[in-house]
Amino acid sequence: MIPVLLPTPENIRRAADALRQGNLVAMPTETVYGLAGDALNPQALAKIFSVKQRPFFDPLIVHIADRSWVEKLCDQLPPEAKILMDHFWPGPLTLVLPKQKLVPDLATSGLNTVAIRMPSHPVAQALLREANIPLAAPSANPFGRLSPTQADHVAADFSTGIDCILDGGPCVVGVESTVIGWINGEPTLLRAGGVPLEILEVTLKKPVAIHSHDSESSPQSPGNLPSHYAPRTKLVLIPPNPPEGGAPPWGVRGEREGLICFGNEPVLAGFAVVENLSTKGDFHEAATNLFAALHRLDASGLNVIYARLLPEIGLGRAMNDRLRKAAATL
Ligand code: TXA
Ligand code: MG
Repeated sequence: MIPVLLPTPENIRRAADALRQGNLVAMPTETVYGLAGDALNPQALAKIFSVKQRPFFDPLIVHIADRSWVEKLCDQLPPEAKILMDHFWPGPLTLVLPKQKLVPDLATSGLNTVAIRMPSHPVAQALLREANIPLAAPSANPFGRLSPTQADHVAADFSTGIDCILDGGPCVVGVESTVIGWINGEPTLLRAGGVPLEILEVTLKKPVAIHSHDSESSPQSPGNLPSHYAPRTKLVLIPPNPPEGGAPPWGVRGEREGLICFGNEPVLAGFAVVENLSTKGDFHEAATNLFAALHRLDASGLNVIYARLLPEIGLGRAMNDRLRKAAATL
């Protein structure tokens, strides 16, 4: 059993000591819980990949609490990077920037860029300051599985390899950070996340390109595999406009089925469990609930989970990305 600890000053000191000794700590962030290790220590980085069973080609995000780390870790900042840091840090935005030599190759999977973010969660900030090192932290779930938004999600997924889990309560954003990189010199969305694309465009006063992950032989954001964030139970997307007159795919006799929906749409009959992400149609509330609802449905002994996609705007884009990946099979 991995100890789940309240983030008292004493426990934060213990966690920081473990990190400085090259061990791993699960820490709350505002997006999802992260599996943190010393970003400058290749042994600690190797432990992250091994505990998470993550392939080495999928690089990690480096977390900092202090802007002075940017120049130590990154080089040649594009002009938009400073604007984005000023507006969205600390917060759910990751920037992929040319890396300095100090960053071990293992953190970046050999790429010449490093993904960097400053989380806003007070426990993540306190831990980063106490440890006084940048922390590499992927989401604290086994590779390809549902992301954790509560300490007990992490505790259920791992039994060894982590010194402790700091319990900072449920994550308020609920989906991972937005990842922005620069392709041909232009800011480009590599992963939809907690900061909506529209808000980035208003801030930068220009369009932000959306990177298509299908068209690349050497992916710009290697972690964007089509299947990801998956529950163990089969997940099927309900098409926005089911064909007139055709039999719906759900309601199969003898099957225990669950439904994920959003807003005040009429709930389809016949589901054993229904999770409405936000009855009032609030995107923030829905994002906060998304992974917890998937975890609960996955633990309900269902044969299949159906999900309706949300409107493809604002945080809807990030939630739809997670639902599409949860529905894809390898
Ligand atoms: O909100 C978050 O970002 C959470 C919390 C814990 O901070 N972390 C997280 O990490 O979602 P992870 O490892 O699950 O996702 C990192 C994403 C992957 O899609 C990876 O491919 C991408 O960031 N990434 C990391 N380094 C990159 C790089 N140098 N170039 C392009 N993409 C990169
Ligand atoms: Mg992840």
